[in-house]
Amino acid sequence: MTSGGDAPGMNAAIRAVTRAAISKGIRVKGIYRGYKGLVTGEIQELYTDSVSNIIQRGGTMLKTARCAEFMTPEGRQMAYDNMRREGIDALVVIGGDGSLTGARIFAQEFNVPCIGLPGTIDNDLFGTDTTIGYDTALNTIVEAIDKIRDTAASHERLFFVEVMGRDAGFLALNGAIASGAEAAIIPEYNTEVDQLEDLIEHGFRKSKNSSIVLVAESKSKGGALDIAERMKTECPEYDVRVSILGHLQRGGSPTAHDRIIASRMGAAAIDALLEDQRNVMIGIVRDEIVYVPFTRAIKNDKPIKPELLDVLRELSI
Ligand code: F6P
Repeated sequence: MTSGGDAPGMNAAIRAVTRAAISKGIRVKGIYRGYKGLVTGEIQELYTDSVSNIIQRGGTMLKTARCAEFMTPEGRQMAYDNMRREGIDALVVIGGDGSLTGARIFAQEFNVPCIGLPGTIDNDLFGTDTTIGYDTALNTIVEAIDKIRDTAASHERLFFVEVMGRDAGFLALNGAIASGAEAAIIPEYNTEVDQLEDLIEHGFRKSKNSSIVLVAESKSKGGALDIAERMKTECPEYDVRVSILGHLQRGGSPTAHDRIIASRMGAAAIDALLEDQRNVMIGIVRDEIVYVPFTRAIKNDKPIKPELLDVLRELSI
């Protein structure tokens, strides 16, 4: 199943799981709409040609959902009953933090072998260098910012561009480095005040006629609109604009990187099951497949390298 927010490369992962399993003599069933489909029994057998012509497609052919019912013991019992009825012995869950948390609870409660694949544009799962979908989203952000830069430069404006991340700053920080932006405001370092003050203090460099600041969405700290309002009040001399990239970051054809890691991780999920691994997430660290216990993958906050902030600061003078 795919669960939670869709991410480019999920289809490549479904294809890999299906074909790796079939080539090893294992039957595969697709569960539709994430945990919702497990609770309601929306389940269909997948064959090699069920996953033809999907490696290049964004979204997920299995559909996805966030399922409140699965968060209740009654919902999980229904899910388990459907699993038994369908003759399913193990689950492969492709999703982010919330989806793997669901898998961990379910695995513990019913003693079901579950393997997780990190599928999220946020890149916020511990124990893997990147998650499936992150690279594509990053490239989409860079492409969008290159376009915004044209307007920013022509009108000599200051843009605050809000990117996704669910309280993680990977997209904002690396998006800023890759697009040559002036700064990134990310939740991890609580840099909001400093970076904004920095901007206010130093203003535009003389040879620069525009500035772009990436802002990671953050429920607790507010987003680009809040920061822009503050900027307008404190520095009315700037011509400030806000752009919220939103869900366009989640769509599109996956990059080669995402297709490759999704294919490798999907195949590794079947190897893991055959090795009697259970309740682990498949990760890739320094180009090697690793098994990461759910508790480590979910609970730990994946740290952002301070070096990245230094690079951004140093190169945006
Ligand atoms: O987890 C992926 C993500 O795109 C986050 O970056 C974002 O906060 C969230 O999902 C948005 O969720 P939804 O599509 O349900 O509004």
